[in-house]
Amino acid sequence: MRKTNQIVKEDVHRIVKDLGRLVENFRDKKILITGFKGFLGSNFTAFFHLLNQEILNNSLTVYCLDNSIVDLEDLTSPYTEGFTVVNGSGLNDLPVKDFNYIIHCAGIASPTFYRKYPLETISVNSIGYWEMLNNLDVSSLEGFLYFSTSEIYGDPDSKNIPTKEEYRGNVSCTGPRACYDESKRLGETISIAFHQEKGLPIKIVRPFNVYGPFMRLNDRRVIPDFVKFALEENVINILSDGTPTRAFCYSSDAINGFIRALLLGKPARPYNIGNGDSEISMLELANIISMNLGGTEIKYRESSEKNYLTDNPQRRCPVIGRAKTELNFKPAIHPSDGIQRVIEWYKETYFPNK
Ligand SMILES: NC(=O)c1ccc[n+]([C@@H]2O[C@H](COP(=O)([O-])OP(=O)(O)OC[C@H]3O[C@@H](n4cnc5c(N)ncnc54)[C@H](O)[C@@H]3O)[C@@H](O)[C@H]2O)c1
Repeated sequence: MRKTNQIVKEDVHRIVKDLGRLVENFRDKKILITGFKGFLGSNFTAFFHLLNQEILNNSLTVYCLDNSIVDLEDLTSPYTEGFTVVNGSGLNDLPVKDFNYIIHCAGIASPTFYRKYPLETISVNSIGYWEMLNNLDVSSLEGFLYFSTSEIYGDPDSKNIPTKEEYRGNVSCTGPRACYDESKRLGETISIAFHQEKGLPIKIVRPFNVYGPFMRLNDRRVIPDFVKFALEENVINILSDGTPTRAFCYSSDAINGFIRALLLGKPARPYNIGNGDSEISMLELANIISMNLGGTEIKYRESSEKNYLTDNPQRRCPVIGRAKTELNFKPAIHPSDGIQRVIEWYKETYFPNK
């Protein structure tokens, strides 16, 4: 079995190779990664750590910020060596405010956690975000990456799936997902207003169901959930009727798309980042995981969380023509390959003796 750090290294090398000379934009620069302990933040720290070591001669200065609100175990440490790591929520917690690039991953992304912390979820995407932009020293800012979400489309009608950026969404402002969906929508509006009024180079991405190494096993999103059931209880419990679909995008494809949006995207113009060719149902997902683990039994069960399926979209799939044309984004990893990689990562990280 490959070691987990080998999987992460291979992923970073694939991204670096595909980005080519674009990575030179980061030479001698200062970067802030917020939410660095989370799933995407951890992938970014791994990317910049290895890029710095192997290509940029450690010329990149990296600051990492997180308030640890999502109480998950810390897996990031091997990739933050040499970076300035700060426990906090805003710019006032940082020793400097003048960055060349900011990758703003802070947020509460897992439905289980944003239902548990609705006020904090709204705050980080709206008031906290506004304050951050308002207090930035923008004189040196070359790019700011804002993480919106595919959830801003809500539950689209069938003629708007696969979904283009122009679709305005079908979102409940009172349902259990509203704290996330509506505040992310406001976050996009804030991004556009700060660009229009103050000229901030804010790039907006709408990620569609990204998965991969560093998504914690107890994160409660579906891929770690199925793997956890399978490895701990020898059964995969599907908590719906198995028919809802998602287009899953492996993390190295997604990070590649995010970096492209940061460097090449037009400000205040949202880009869907996902893999439109990889839409599968929850049952198909369970089958792929089961096959990879030698035929784990699959069962249907109700969630213990009352609102687990309320406003849960039946289908979620992006049109990525804009990112393909304007960013030269080409997701390449099929779920069967990506899921095999992530299962190896989970086994090695959490169950080294299985
Ligand atoms: N992973 C995906 O598939 C996906 C899809 C759509 C959108 N996004 C968005 O991308 C961003 C990163 O996603 P993720 O999957 O890494 O999320 P995550 O929940 O794994 O990590 C987010 C991190 O932000 C930190 N955080 C939360 N509030 C904070 C605050 N006020 N100050 C500082 N740190 C704070 C948390 O402690 C956590 O470590 C989020 O904004 C999320 O909404 C992710």
